[in-house]
Amino acid sequence: MSDRYAVMGNPVAHSKSPFIHTSFARQCRQDLRYEALLAPLDGFKQAAEAFFAGGGKGLNVTVPFKQDAWALARRRSVGAELAGAVNTLLLNAEGELEGHNTDGPGLVRDLTVNAGGELRDKRVLVLGAGGATRGIVLPLLQLEPVELVIANRTRSKAEELAALFAAHGRVSACGYEDLPGQRFDWVLNATAASLEGSLPPLPDDLLAQDAWCYDLMYAKEPTIFCRWAQEHGAARALDGLGMLVEQAAEAFLLWRGMRPDTREVLRELRAL
Ligand code: ATR
Repeated sequence: MSDRYAVMGNPVAHSKSPFIHTSFARQCRQDLRYEALLAPLDGFKQAAEAFFAGGGKGLNVTVPFKQDAWALARRRSVGAELAGAVNTLLLNAEGELEGHNTDGPGLVRDLTVNAGGELRDKRVLVLGAGGATRGIVLPLLQLEPVELVIANRTRSKAEELAALFAAHGRVSACGYEDLPGQRFDWVLNATAASLEGSLPPLPDDLLAQDAWCYDLMYAKEPTIFCRWAQEHGAARALDGLGMLVEQAAEAFLLWRGMRPDTREVLRELRAL
């Protein structure tokens, strides 16, 4: 029988993960089945436990259950521990539920390997201080930017995150009102503002020469943040579709011990 994997969320019907993992499995000649499972909003723990009790090998976890998955995991990777969120669960050799967070590593792989971007010695600005930001700060700091600034509407949340990651690199916090007069080589949008079709208030001269912008969101059309980036002189404006595929590849690697080539799946998704 094929090994069973799934993505669990609510809602989950729109998820591209079954398409991505099924493509990876075909490419890597792995005999597995991957489906999308809807869990009740107050029933993630029961649904996940039932999945593993029924022989399931691994779960991806999406909105709104990443914190629940963190709590459920008996063991957690350092990245998942600091992110406070788990997007990949597996049963380890001891039969314990192990939690990982592949979102940050997926982002880093997309912006360095796929796009060829450099963060070393650069000034990096992250917009937003929610769960998405928590998941990416550590992997970004590991690329050794000269400084990483977290800007948020609610400044205290940015300050909390900066304090949490202070031991891992040069990271500071500010409000949007502190941005005028500052220039950044990288601006990453991790706010939920684009979901409402809006942007945080950004000064017109925020981008340094040859700056790169990255929106953790993606959409059929260029996102509002990517459009802002293009209009304000960014050398590159990237969206989060590559991050989605790369976080899946990281999960596949954890589960199956092999890393799929992501280029073809990414091409197929862009063409859809
Ligand atoms: P996620 O887990 O996806 O990051 P979240 O925890 O709800 O979602 O965080 C959403 C982030 O987007 C927060 O940083 C939020 O700012 P606040 O902390 O001040 O709420 C930010 N955000 C949401 N809507 C926004 C808007 N219209 N303008 C600016 N920031 C916004």
